[in-house]
Amino acid sequence: MKEFIPWADELSVGIEEIDEQHKVLVVLINKLYDETVKPHPNSTVVEDILNELVQYTIVHFALEESLFRIFDYPYYEAHRKQHEELKKEVIAIQTKFRTDAKAVNLELIHFLRKWLREHIMGTDKKYTGFFLEKGLKGSWTKRSWIGKIWDSVYSK
Ligand SMILES: [Fe+2]
Repeated sequence: MKEFIPWADELSVGIEEIDEQHKVLVVLINKLYDETVKPHPNSTVVEDILNELVQYTIVHFALEESLFRIFDYPYYEAHRKQHEELKKEVIAIQTKFRTDAKAVNLELIHFLRKWLREHIMGTDKKYTGFFLEKGLKGSWTKRSWIGKIWDSVYSK
């Protein structure tokens, strides 16, 4: 079965750990799609996915923003504002669903796909060159990430 959002190179920001986090968001939107296109979507499943999507979005954005602060990213404020907007939108979908389960329809899920793809490709990709220049390595694994960021900042 073709996935609603197939992972593709064009979605990669070139930093493995961030790609892994973006993949989690892709999986959640794919799951939401798969459940919604069923003849009888299970509202508990939809609610769980939406809750996870909201939570993970908040965690992921917080991680990006802390990197921006650590490395003095010049577009921090503009990027943070966009995160605020995106967070509001995904929370609005969650709220809408609580009062009207049918509100989460294909149109909304297409909106979420656009929401994620455009942010990754239009805004996130702009930070890659900056981070690599600051010494981050695209191949760092999760376990060693924080320590390495710490070292690279404090060994200056
Ligand atoms: Fe972002």
